[in-house]
This record gives sequence, structure tokens and C-alpha cells, in this order.
Amino acid sequence: MNHSQHPSADGLWQHLRLAPGALAGEAHSEGLADAAIVVRQGQIAWIGAGAALPAVYAGLPRFDAGGALVTPGLVDCHTHLVYGGQRANEFALRLAGASYEEISRAGGGIVSTVRATREASEDQLFESASARLQPLLAEGVCAIEIKSGYGLALEHERKQLRVARRLGQAHGLTVRTSFLGAHALPPEYAGRSGDYIDLVCRDMLPALAAEGLIDAVDVFCERIGFSLAETEQVFQAAQALGLPVKLHAEQLSDMGGAALAARYGALSCDHIEHLSAQGIAAMKQAGSVAVLLPGAYYALRDTHLPPIEALREAGVPMAVATDHNPGTSPCLSLLLMMNMACTLFRLTVPEALAGVTRHAARALGLQATHGALEAGRPANFVLWDLKEAAELAYWFGQRPMRCVVRQGRIAEGRP
Ligand code: NIG
Ligand code: FE
Repeated sequence: MNHSQHPSADGLWQHLRLAPGALAGEAHSEGLADAAIVVRQGQIAWIGAGAALPAVYAGLPRFDAGGALVTPGLVDCHTHLVYGGQRANEFALRLAGASYEEISRAGGGIVSTVRATREASEDQLFESASARLQPLLAEGVCAIEIKSGYGLALEHERKQLRVARRLGQAHGLTVRTSFLGAHALPPEYAGRSGDYIDLVCRDMLPALAAEGLIDAVDVFCERIGFSLAETEQVFQAAQALGLPVKLHAEQLSDMGGAALAARYGALSCDHIEHLSAQGIAAMKQAGSVAVLLPGAYYALRDTHLPPIEALREAGVPMAVATDHNPGTSPCLSLLLMMNMACTLFRLTVPEALAGVTRHAARALGLQATHGALEAGRPANFVLWDLKEAAELAYWFGQRPMRCVVRQGRIAEGRP
């Protein structure tokens, strides 16, 4: 169903149990046992304790949540959702002992998805990405980041980004696009990475920005991606266009990418398994979010943990995302990522919840509108059939969502 066909959520939502940290101004609050939310014209008009509801709202149509747990709409702040094909063959190769880097150097990896993505039409990409979006929507995702980076040529990067925008319109979902033209070297530029980066900076980036298709600029800074100098060249081009940057940083090795990204005021540095103390200090100073991607860590059977304790001590906000992509994280559950962030990375439950709500919103520059509940924001919230917030991270393979209000409409389930 198209988003505009979903029933309006306008009215008085009663008997809600607000999860800890759900209110915008109160990151560390306990939550509220009997809360109410007033939705008017798709926005939160009022939120607070049910007993404090202003009389003027008492006559509105009512939705009785019957004590359901409520969180802000979830935010998946790092995905590569739009692509052609899949890479189950590489999963088998890795099980037989090949590494991600070896597969990439042998012409597989990202470049094999580039072939399939170039072959697909815009409509085909829209259909396949829509299907993959369903489980995320059904789990309560209300905002998502979608990267390009499987086209690696102007027309194909454009096709991916246009699909990302269309997904947002069709599903009433906030979509932030990241241009990831510097994801891998396309085969036709083999041995000429300087020329390719020039193309990214001089042609692709300005053209796609002018078409309004780019919200942020990302780079894969890695031995099998692009060097620190090439990354900086892309960041300079982004800065010249007034676009914020983010980075696939220190996933397989410490390239010093996080510190560079922080110098450019990065919204986030993502993966960061090999992040150094200098990188952490630079991120803290710049206010960059640390985006943790346990799905990729798990799928690659990585054993080098990101420096969680040091990030926590430094007070760097941590987000958690699916990194959905066909190579290293074919995962379509943000709740599973919460579970893995706790189990594998030792996040606390409140950290994991903030990681898929307020900190994830901040990683996209959406902290004023998403990731927490407040009067004046668009109505994005989720009702859960759960007793306590810890259950969001505790169960896995479970579907505890009862109802999702997305952009002011009852988009999934019923109260
Ligand atoms: O975030 N690390 C680089 N990019 C993706 C993987 C892309 C792929 O293998 O197709 C990631 O893990
Ligand atoms: Fe990624």
C-alpha cells in the first residue's frame, strides 16, 4: 500500500509506556509509566504523563495502547539497500577459507555487485529494494540512510540515488542519501585510481548534487578502497559544495581515516574496528558519531573489536546500523543489530537503544526531527508488545512490533 493510503494517526494516544530515553530533552530519563501522545496533522502536538493531558485535547478521537511500550521510530543510519543481484557465492567462498580482501582483489566483492547493478533498470532496482525495505519497515524503521556506490559511473550512481528518493516517497519514510562514488575502483579505471577520483570529484559529485540527489558524501577509505589522500580529495569536493561527509573508516586496518573525517566535521565514522586513540579524540572534538556495524563484523567473522570502552569513556555517541549490503551484511533487522551490539560489542541496552534512535538520527544530521519524541516533531513512534525496553535487545528473530506510526500515519499493524 502507498503511504498516503494508510490511516491517519491524528488523535489522542493513551496508556503508553514510554521507553527510557524516549523524550527529546531527556536522554537519560527513566521513561513514563502512563503517557499520552497527541498527534495533529501528522505531528506530535503534545506528549507527557496522561494525568497532565491539557483538557483541550480530551475530546480527540482516541487510540488506546493498553500499556504498550513506546519508542521513537527507529533509524537505520548506514545501509547500501539499492543494488542488483546478491553474493551468496562469496559467502560460500569465505566459508571455504577465502577472505573478504582476497575475494575483492580477485575481482569479486563490491565490483561484482557493480556489474549486476549496472545491468538492472531503475524500476528493477526500485522493486528489489522495496522488497528488502519491508522487513525494516515492519520492525519500526522510520528513517534510513541509503548509499550509492554500486554504480561507479554517473548514470548508474544517479539511478541508485533516484531509487533511494523514490523509496522515501512511496513508503512515507525519511531517506537520507549518501553519495559513495568512491566505494571501489570500477574495472574500466584499473590502475588509474587518480583519474577515477578526479571523475568523482569533478563530474559525478557536482552533477548529482545539482540534481538534489545527495545529502552527504561517503568514501571507503581502506587498502582495498581508497587512500587517505584520495579520501581527502573527495572531502574537499564535498566541502566546496556545502555537503556534509561521513566515512567507512578503519574497518580492516587503521588508515587514519577517522581523524581525517573529523577534520572535515564528519557526521559519522562507520565500522571503526581498528580505530586509534587519536581517531577517538578527533571524533570527540568534532562531534562525529561512531557508527557500529555488528552485522559486517559477524558476517566477516572478524575478531578485532571496535574500541567500545574507549569510545564510551571519551563520550563519543555510538550508533548501531544494519550496514545492509549483499557482501558483508545481508541483514534486514535492526533489532538483531541491537542484540549483536550488546552480545558481540558489549553495549548496554540503553546504549543500543540510543544507537538505533537518537544517536543514529544524529549520524544523519536528523537530530532535530528524529530519534526522540517531542512536541513539534513529525509523528514517528513504535508500539511494542513488550514489558520492558531490554527485551528489544534480548529477543532475536522475534517480531515484537504492534504498531508503527510513520510520518503521522498508522503504517504497520494496529493499536
Ligand atoms: O560497509 N566496506 C565497504 N562497503 C560495504 C561492503 C560492500 C560490499 O561488500 O558490497 C560495507 O561493509
Ligand atoms: Fe557500509
